[in-house]
Amino acid sequence: MKNSLKQIFICTSCGSVHPKWLGKCPDCDAWNSIHEETVSKSQHQNYQQGQKAEVVPLPKILEKEEKRIFCGVPELDRVLGGGLVTGSLVLLSGDPGIGKSTLLLQALNGLAQRGFKVLYASGEESCTQIKLRAERLGSLNMNILVTNETNILSILEAAKQTRPHVLVIDSIQTVYNPELPGSPGNVSQIRECANLIMQTAKSQNISTFVIGHVTKDGAIAGPKVLEHLVDTVMHLEGDTSSGYRILRANKNRFGSTGEIGVFAMQGHGLVDIPNPSAVFLDENKKDCEGAAISVSMEGTRPILIEVQVLVGKTSFASPRRLATGFDTNRFTILLAVLEKRAGLYLSNVDVYANVTGGFKIYETAIDLATAAAVASSLFGKPLPSKTAFFGEVGLSGEVRMVSHALTRIQEAQKLGFEKIYIPLRNYQIEKEHIIKLIEKQERPFFIIPIENVNEVVRIEH
Ligand code: TYD
Ligand code: MG
Repeated sequence: MKNSLKQIFICTSCGSVHPKWLGKCPDCDAWNSIHEETVSKSQHQNYQQGQKAEVVPLPKILEKEEKRIFCGVPELDRVLGGGLVTGSLVLLSGDPGIGKSTLLLQALNGLAQRGFKVLYASGEESCTQIKLRAERLGSLNMNILVTNETNILSILEAAKQTRPHVLVIDSIQTVYNPELPGSPGNVSQIRECANLIMQTAKSQNISTFVIGHVTKDGAIAGPKVLEHLVDTVMHLEGDTSSGYRILRANKNRFGSTGEIGVFAMQGHGLVDIPNPSAVFLDENKKDCEGAAISVSMEGTRPILIEVQVLVGKTSFASPRRLATGFDTNRFTILLAVLEKRAGLYLSNVDVYANVTGGFKIYETAIDLATAAAVASSLFGKPLPSKTAFFGEVGLSGEVRMVSHALTRIQEAQKLGFEKIYIPLRNYQIEKEHIIKLIEKQERPFFIIPIENVNEVVRIEH
């Protein structure tokens, strides 16, 4: 077939194709994201022409049993939804140097030790580098096959012939299809390679991990199409400086997306942290103003975290508000609520907030702890020890109920907390269970229902 070339204009953000260059993508509204690319005509036509699809009545569909294998890295297995589904395609994204290759090499080792054959295709590092790393991780195993190939057709051919149970492509930005023009990493190369990888994963029943880099603003470099294509999208995050890494599933066709995995990066690789609450709290700390403990839910797991706030006199015309670890906008709104509803005078002070341990919180239940920490720092009075807070703060200062209150209370109780401030509404709903929890406890244990944020800003010991 004549394989003439054709110019197309493709959006690097959403992957949509346009007939001409535009400053702003009409599909995803991203600015300056459209680039010109050359594709073969036949390839481009594949998208437009289709053959009649096979249709089946719903009850006649043959169910394939979903088989899972454990990778031997419990926190990874948890995020995958209880092990790796055979034939599934998983995208692992994260900043460079965060530990993606390390995590997957450890998982491959876990699989190899169980007798599964695995293939690690790395265009990122040389075979020697991989071996050195594997030695450090204690992952030298005959069942781990390694290649440096970046031609996707050769990699997939090798996979078809060696028939590994699990294949890792490190990374999608380094592989290319020689039949297409353009260098590795451009949108059409990424999309085509991902398509080929998916076809092989499904037809050969090989579970495949694809590593993807993220751009500065946190999106996976390459089109969103990649995220739509795969079964699971996982993101590894954390400060490279802090030793902790958090693995989240942003999308999972085979499990919940709420689960997180927590790891510590150590000299011999990533180590699982089965009890994260203990890690994010500093055990030896004395009472300090501006620090409050909250219980955040990460999937089905409650995690105790510490919110720290520093209030200081401003030397700027407009005072600064900065928050790391949670949403700055939400933090600014909370400060406005505290000013208006709880009478805290904050307009001539800078307020900085931080969640310790490099943890990022996306839920609103930490509002109450943040409010208590702001007041504590402003008045220079430490909060009582062994006290935790959770609850969402509304714009009129009301403390709103949050989900999983009982699980949160139990976690704080387990870690020796004695006083927990919770939303009144949660208390009313779960009263019976809460009373049972209190009765069970031998040490003093108090649950304090709160209706308005006012009540936590002037807590006395
Ligand atoms: P890596 O897995 O190469 O990151 P990615 O593939 O996401 O780019 O991890 C690189 C960092 O991890 C590197 O800066 C060194 C650190 N590291 C350790 O601290 N301990 C170890 O055992 C290993 C293998 C890496
Ligand atoms: Mg790497």
